[in-house]
Amino acid sequence: MTKQCYLRGFGSFAPPKVLTNDDLATFVETSDEWIKTRTGIEQRHIVDPGQCTSDLVTEAAKAALNDASLAVADLTHILVATFTPDAYCPNTACVVEDKLGTKGLMAMDMSAACSGFVYGLQVARGLVSISDNATILLSGAETMSSRTNWKDRNTCVLFGDAAGAVVISPTPGPNCAELIDVEVSSDGALRDLLTVTGGGSSMPYTLDQPVPAEHFVMMQGREVFKHAVRSMTSVCETLLERNGLTNADIDLLIPHQANMRIIDAVGKKLDMPEGKVFVNLQKYGNTSAASIPLALADARAQGAIKPGMTVLLTTFGGGFTWGSALLKFL
Ligand SMILES: CC(C)(COP(=O)(O)OP(=O)(O)OC[C@H]1O[C@@H](n2cnc3c(N)ncnc32)[C@H](O)[C@@H]1OP(=O)(O)O)[C@@H](O)C(=O)NCCC(=O)NCCS
Repeated sequence: MTKQCYLRGFGSFAPPKVLTNDDLATFVETSDEWIKTRTGIEQRHIVDPGQCTSDLVTEAAKAALNDASLAVADLTHILVATFTPDAYCPNTACVVEDKLGTKGLMAMDMSAACSGFVYGLQVARGLVSISDNATILLSGAETMSSRTNWKDRNTCVLFGDAAGAVVISPTPGPNCAELIDVEVSSDGALRDLLTVTGGGSSMPYTLDQPVPAEHFVMMQGREVFKHAVRSMTSVCETLLERNGLTNADIDLLIPHQANMRIIDAVGKKLDMPEGKVFVNLQKYGNTSAASIPLALADARAQGAIKPGMTVLLTTFGGGFTWGSALLKFL
């Protein structure tokens, strides 16, 4: 039987170093005007050398635990959604477990690209259902700069580094949200439109080989754009219909922060007024799996989310993967 499931603490962390559009224009042929008009992005945060995904998750996790008034010792599971892990092995969740100073937890990474956090909500919901008393740290985190081809202006202007985290449990707490429902989907036939294949088993490296372009994000931007709008819209419609709701019942839409034009198109198709669509993309760029939990934490901090609000999340990413989740803030 499905148990009730609550998001109890919200935290985020972006590395302090900021790369503005003007900074980018010093080493790649682009301009602040082009980037702002085509994407809405003004700047992105980038890690310093030596800083990696587990560092970002650890900071976001501490903030989320603090927000939930919970301790590291309360955690039973650590789930990290990322496709830019510290390493193939060990997984980032184990590194985070150690950095938080705990052990003995179920610690696992999940990969669904930008949809990783919403996929993670579905996994966490399942774990809450089958566990006696799960207290799950779920983070979406990326060090996109480690997989960015800084010579490719088509992609390097889009991404940024950050982590967001929530604590999920079967019991409510102050300022929490009930996870009402989640819908996730995918279409692997479209996998070649957004890839990072280099170093995987389909394209293994050999010693002394120079790093190929495939080590970095490669994307057919226009195709991705079309599918993103279509999938993010339809998955929201599915979720709303299943829960007997209409767009008028939604107080705030938090879409994956990929591109302002995608966000605008999804908002229009769902008939959501601009003021009900949360945007923080201008500050962070596309932080992939971190985008939704970072936006959730930001929205909470800015007072854009208040008790009683119904919030709809929607996301899209490589794979292709996509999904939507419905939250009721208490
Ligand atoms: C990437 C994206 C912003 C490009 O915008 P677009 O309007 O489709 O632009 P195009 O790719 O058609 O390129 C138009 C021109 O701008 C140029 N261009 C591309 N990137 C540029 C940049 N950073 N600066 C200046 N010019 C650039 C192209 O070379 C092209 O020039 P050409 O006409 O001389 O060939 C857009 O396709 C997009 O947002 N796609 C979705 C990306 C995304 O969000 N992915 C993640 C999903 S999870």
